[in-house]
Amino acid sequence: MRDSRETISPRAFVAGYPIKHSRSPLIHGHWLAKYGLDGSYEKIAIAPGEFPEFIANLKTEASPYRGGNITIPHKEAACLLADQVDPLAEELGAANTLWREEGRLHATNTDGIGFLANLDARQPGWDRAQRAVILGAGGASRAVLQALRDRGIAEIHVVNRTIERARELVDRFGAPLEAHGMNSLPSLLDGAGLFVNTTSLGMDGAEAPQLPFDRMMSDALVTDIVYVPLKTPFLLQAEQMGLSTVDGLGMLLHQAAPGFEKWFGRMPEVTEELRNLIIADIEDHA
Ligand code: ATR
Repeated sequence: MRDSRETISPRAFVAGYPIKHSRSPLIHGHWLAKYGLDGSYEKIAIAPGEFPEFIANLKTEASPYRGGNITIPHKEAACLLADQVDPLAEELGAANTLWREEGRLHATNTDGIGFLANLDARQPGWDRAQRAVILGAGGASRAVLQALRDRGIAEIHVVNRTIERARELVDRFGAPLEAHGMNSLPSLLDGAGLFVNTTSLGMDGAEAPQLPFDRMMSDALVTDIVYVPLKTPFLLQAEQMGLSTVDGLGMLLHQAAPGFEKWFGRMPEVTEELRNLIIADIEDHA
């Protein structure tokens, strides 16, 4: 008799709370259909109190799932509860991708990979920047800081309204990070090759301050991990000053790819077709 697992179509999920607005099912559903693969990917709302039990079940073969994505507010708990946490997630203290392998629940964090892959795809050579300025020291900035450090960027300046939070990240990730308050932002932009916004400034119509991007190198890149709106106020400002920009949507698409490979067995491609599908969804919900 064949092993029943060979005949069961693989299932994966994204778990969060709330989860209604997740675009991950659209991304994975597109890839499953494109490659003609048998499988499914669904969103599940898991309240914080139910998360440990959900993970305990996921560790067993009784779970219908091979693994899944974890989003707010469970990324830290996922990291603590998994059996095998890779060094990237361990250092971040947060996991966004889980998979079961040989009876153990593995965890990683693909946000940094997604961030780098997006810039590599849309602005090759961006990593020649010597000085990077990162605005924000919240949960979202961690993977960006880790990724830039691991890529070997020489100077990484973390600027945050609450300087204490920036200092905590400098302690966590070490050299070559430096912490600064908002007042230092204009002078730090002098000669910088990369600016990344990781704050909610400019998100969903929120205001964003005017920044002197014209003080950056003429070949500098400005990017934002916010992708609603696609062209954030920071990207518009930079564009008006003649600088290159990359929006944050590609980070969402690229961070999804390694999980898809784990659960469904094929490394998917991030294409313009997929990008346009998500843009249409963003516009539908505007
Ligand atoms: P996330 O996990 O999405 O990064 P977070 O942990 O709440 O969310 O962090 C939000 C980031 O946006 C922080 O860097 C925050 O600055 P503080 O640490 O000082 O709170 C930043 N942020 C939010 N609103 C801001 C504003 N009006 N001006 C400057 N920074 C702001």
